[in-house]
Order: sequence, then structure tokens, then C-alpha cells
Amino acid sequence: MSESLLELLAQRRGESFALHERYLNTQHARVLRTIGFDRRYVRAHGPYLWDDEGNRYLDLLSGYGVFAVGRNHPAIVAALREVLEGELPSLVQMDVSLLAGILAERLVPTFPGGLDKVFFCNSGAEAVEAAIKFARYATRREAIVYCEHAFHGLTMGAVSLNGDDIFQEGFGPMLPGCRRIPFNDLAALERALAQRDVAAFIVEPIQGHGVHVAAPEYLREAGRLCRQHGTLFVADEVQTGLGRTGRMWAVEHWHAEPDMILMAKALSGGFVPVGAVGMRKDTFDKLFSSMVRAPVHGSTFSKNNLAMAAGIATLRVLKEENLVEHAAKLGEGLISDLRALIDKHEFLHDVRGKGMMIALEFGQPKSLSLRAAWKLLETAQAGLFSQMITIPLFKNHRILSQVAGHGCNVVKFLPPLVISEEDRRWIRTSCDEVIADTHKVPGSIWDLGKTLAGHAIKARRAS
Ligand SMILES: Cc1ncc(COP(=O)(O)O)c(C=O)c1O
Repeated sequence: MSESLLELLAQRRGESFALHERYLNTQHARVLRTIGFDRRYVRAHGPYLWDDEGNRYLDLLSGYGVFAVGRNHPAIVAALREVLEGELPSLVQMDVSLLAGILAERLVPTFPGGLDKVFFCNSGAEAVEAAIKFARYATRREAIVYCEHAFHGLTMGAVSLNGDDIFQEGFGPMLPGCRRIPFNDLAALERALAQRDVAAFIVEPIQGHGVHVAAPEYLREAGRLCRQHGTLFVADEVQTGLGRTGRMWAVEHWHAEPDMILMAKALSGGFVPVGAVGMRKDTFDKLFSSMVRAPVHGSTFSKNNLAMAAGIATLRVLKEENLVEHAAKLGEGLISDLRALIDKHEFLHDVRGKGMMIALEFGQPKSLSLRAAWKLLETAQAGLFSQMITIPLFKNHRILSQVAGHGCNVVKFLPPLVISEEDRRWIRTSCDEVIADTHKVPGSIWDLGKTLAGHAIKARRAS
């Protein structure tokens, strides 16, 4: 007897946290329960999620940036249905995929700087791994330079390029030859490249962790220094790519021309894992230099029909709905709405970002009474204040957001590019109210702060 998935889900509704605590990542489930994010979502569309009580949530996390075109977009669903209902051959392996050829043909004209080849894989981290291998092979050098606070993924090569120690501790040794330099520091980059042993410099135009934006001259100059020293300049646009920052590729804001551009997340249409590396033919052809070498890098599932169809449909939706321009315009408006709150609220120090990648940075207030409360919280655990923003945003205003990294007081919004003017007002009003509440000491938000601090101290003692 065939089992209906929807019936199965209806029968087992309410068991997800218990199942995860038993069979999957127990700590993740515990964190969500502790901070009150344990909802039962039953439906999703565009930028919204609905729980089983009919409440609607605005999703400013978009699956870590996956849902650029919104959730369950009908055009992506239709493309995937066509693949499934068409009984198409996929992953023949001893064949080449037409869908992959078409997706590559449509991606190439969007790339800056004449990149004309595409390598497909299954995730952002795999795109990073591919970049490491292509760069090492093409240059016959070992070293890879990366930035402090960078995030490039969690596989062994990618994790070796992460700029926060928490991701590396206990997993060593890291890939040999990886060198960390400060972000936005051209002198440090020049020093790192000077030994002429660096295969690639990899950088996010806007760092996902902390949402640090490249300085105006940084990426162009970095590209120039790389060319001068025979190093490949790799832009990791896994998060920033495909319209998120209000340009198709974030590097366009800086008029920079990388030797490789990495993408994943949004290309999936939110459905099928996919990653890709755009690069020049000469780099590509060095690694795949002969027929014998045709299989030296690749992956079983890459170029599968569903992923390629999702990519093709995503590019079409971005274009037909003018989502890149929409992200630029609405994002600019939202950033200026939020910037206007800086003068009103002492805790809010900075609002930055581009398009639909936005950060609110909080810091020590001026007035003495607030400063004492801030210090108490930060002593318990650095970065705890930002949870006093994301938790009430979620519980009281039904906005899903995230803290932009370990130990930092930065709240990040990565909305689907499709959010509306009404959603913009929802965000502005909710942020205004939540941030205003943090200035009421004592108050309900600081009761939450005390609870969070208690958990943090207990966790520290236990470890
Ligand atoms: C800039 C960047 N690179 C790489 C990755 C890794 O991508 P994935 O999680 O698909 O492996 C991420 C994921 O967040 C990312 O933001």
C-alpha cells in the first residue's frame, strides 16, 4: 500500500522536535525550544510561513538565503513538475545533459569579466572545494588566502578557510597552506601574496558573518594585486549572488572582475541543492587538460535534471519579475528606514548592507543605567544582546531573523527578494518597537535577558 506523505505528516504532526532530539541534532532542537522558536509550520509561500494555529510569519532568514524568489514559487514548482512528469533521463553519466548546457549558457552572460565556463556541483561548500582544486591545479601553488570572519562552508577544505576559530577547533589539522588575513586590509593581502606561492585569494564581497561590507576600493584593488602576483581572485557569492545585494553579482557594486565566482543557495529556487563555479576557459582547461583527465573532478549528483531545471527557472523568475532591481530599490528604502532608528535608540549603533542583505549592529549605550545592564549581559556571554532582539521580533512580531555570527551583536536580515512595501513597514515598525523595549530597564525584555544570561552561565560552567 502506498503511503501518502501529506497523510503521514498530518498523523505525525507535533513529533518533529522529539524525533530530532532522539535521532538527529539534539542540541539544535534544544536551542530552538529554549528560545521559543519551536513552532509547527504547515505552509509556506513567498516570504511567509504559517504555523498550525494559522499565524503568518515574515521570513527574513529565507533558509540562509536559499529562497530568493520566495518559497514555493509556482514557476519553479511547474519546472520541477515538468521534469518529473516528463520521465526525462537524468544522470545517464555516459552522456552529457542538455539542461546543464542550457543553464550554463544562460549563466555565462550574467558573469562579470568574461568568465565563460561553468563547473556544477551540489552546494556552496562544494563550490569552494572546486575553487581550491581548480586554483591549485591551474597555478601549481598550494597556499590559499582568506579573511578573518569569512564563512565559506563546513567541509574540510572550506572549513580551513573560515575566519572564526569556532568552526576549526577540534577538526584540525586544517588544509595546509591556508593563510588568514584581516578583511578590507590591502597591505595585509599584498604581504600574503608577495611570496608568490598563493593559488587563490577567496573573499565574500559582503561577509555573511557580521555583514561586513567590502570597502569601496577593496575588491578592485584585491583583483589587481592578485593578477600582479599570479594568484586567482575568487569571489564567494554563495550568499550574495543572484540578486541578493541589488545587483546580479555583488562584485558589480565594486566594478571588480574575479577569476572565479562561486554560487549556490538561490540558484536552487529553494528546492534542489546545487552549486556552481564560473571561471575562465584557461583555468578550466588546465584541470581538464586531456580526455584521460575528464573525470578528475566532479560529483555523482551534479547536473541532475531537477537541479538544472530549478536553476533555469530561477534565472527566468529573477528576470521576469525584475527581482534584482526590486531588491535594490526596496532594500535601499528598508536600510534607510532602519538607519533612521539609530538616532532614536542608543543601543542601535549601525545599519549596513546592500539590497536584501541587511545588518543591525548593537553596542554599548551612552546612558549609565543602560550601560550597566548591557555590561551584565555581555559579561555572561558576548553577543547575547542580539538575541534580545531576534527573540521578541519572532515571538511578538512574527518575524524570523538570525544573529549574524558567533559572539557578535549583529542581527541579520536576508529577506526573500520578493518582499513588498507592506512587509517593509512590518519590519520597520517591529524593529522600532522591539529596540525601544530594550531601552526599558527593568522590563520584560530584560527579564528575557536575565534568563538568557542564566543559560549562558550554566552552559559555561558545564563545559
Ligand atoms: C559565503 C558562503 N560560502 C559558502 C557557504 C557554504 O554553502 P553550503 O551551506 O551550501 O555548503 C555559505 C553558506 O552559508 C556561504 O554563506
